[in-house]
Amino acid sequence: MAGRRLKLAMAGGGEGAFIGGVHRMAAALDGDWQLVAGAFSSDPARNRRTGEQLGLDPARVHDTLDALLADERARPEGERIDAVAIVTPNHLHAPMAIAALDAGFPVFSEKPMAMNLAEAQAIAEAARASRRLYALAFTYSGYPMVEEARARVARGDFGRVRLVHVEYVQGWLSSPLDREGNKQAEWRTDPARAGLGGALGDIGTHAFQLAEHVSGLTVEALSADVTTHVAGRMLDDDVNVLLRFAEGARGTLRATQVAAGEENGLRIRIHGEKGGLEWSQMEPNTLTLRWLDRPAEIVRAGGPGLSPTTLPRLRTPSGHPEGYIEAFGNLYRAVAGSLRDDAPTGGALGEPDWFPGLESGLRTMAFVEAVLESARSDEKWTVFPALAD
Ligand SMILES: NC(=O)c1ccc[n+]([C@@H]2O[C@H](COP(=O)([O-])OP(=O)(O)OC[C@H]3O[C@@H](n4cnc5c(N)ncnc54)[C@H](O)[C@@H]3O)[C@@H](O)[C@H]2O)c1
Repeated sequence: MAGRRLKLAMAGGGEGAFIGGVHRMAAALDGDWQLVAGAFSSDPARNRRTGEQLGLDPARVHDTLDALLADERARPEGERIDAVAIVTPNHLHAPMAIAALDAGFPVFSEKPMAMNLAEAQAIAEAARASRRLYALAFTYSGYPMVEEARARVARGDFGRVRLVHVEYVQGWLSSPLDREGNKQAEWRTDPARAGLGGALGDIGTHAFQLAEHVSGLTVEALSADVTTHVAGRMLDDDVNVLLRFAEGARGTLRATQVAAGEENGLRIRIHGEKGGLEWSQMEPNTLTLRWLDRPAEIVRAGGPGLSPTTLPRLRTPSGHPEGYIEAFGNLYRAVAGSLRDDAPTGGALGEPDWFPGLESGLRTMAFVEAVLESARSDEKWTVFPALAD
């Protein structure tokens, strides 16, 4: 921690939730944040219990985010929260983010940014009008070896990039879990709570953000095939996309949640004129480099040869594995740094206080809409929509 400890409020993340607990661990990791307030659940009893389990002052645990924001605004500045983490299902991301921003509080939201592009644009408007920070939990850009990959591509190690292949392959929705009481599956397959995309919005957005972030390139057109394999499911569970980048590179993106037996298989490969790299989320401390004219290399977290921008994202020496919580922790630390410096849009790429925000959010939501438009269209290519930001 460098500087004062910031006060965090959380919307969502009640008993039995998945990602709220991860946020709490990540926020606490470096001592930058203290959770002081929450509206953890739409169920008041569950909400109170969660507040008690976390040892919070009951006066700062509220049944709704609106009540929480009103209470916080009424508190003196030194006591008031510094940011709100939004870790609810997707349909609440936009209304909650806009309410927090309008009330003058910075936001760290879960992805996808919103249900659709129009909602994402409304959040961006609110962030600009309030001049408050808006960060998005594109977790994978917080991994040290993702930063290493990005830095090596950016400094031209592989020459001009020709190929970008990204896949996010899960198997947990291979059966209709959503109809068997699995809470996480239930809302993810319900268009009213998940938004326009199923696997597309849930993990396709992660893959897209990672592809543009690591390659430094911009998708300009795509051609998509979108499928629902599990009978009765209302949203996609399998997406295959060809990508054309403005800079001339070509690529593919796969996102599926019905690859039976697969866990959390996010993998990216990028190739330029002289060689390429590969990073896989389930082996996050290894970056593999391959060369046209020499043997492959393995670059390891904490090992020799790392870029200066990777080092601040590591906490342990080589061979002491860091992973998912630490990647999230890097985003929380970046957000804390930007808030202390009063820099609502964060630092430059590579700097310790860079974090994914409005631009990543708007582009990923535009991606969701372009993929669905392409899947409906008979045209081979769908042009990626131009975005103001
Ligand atoms: N960045 C990542 O790697 C990552 C991973 C998993 C989930 N997510 C995202 O996190 C979000 C939550 O996913 P999850 O799997 O934790 O879902 P979950 O169903 O496990 O948890 C959602 C929580 O929100 C609460 N909630 C619902 N309505 C509420 C309301 N009106 N007020 C307050 N709380 C309310 C629920 O009670 C629950 O505690 C989703 O947007 C998802 O896309 C991101």
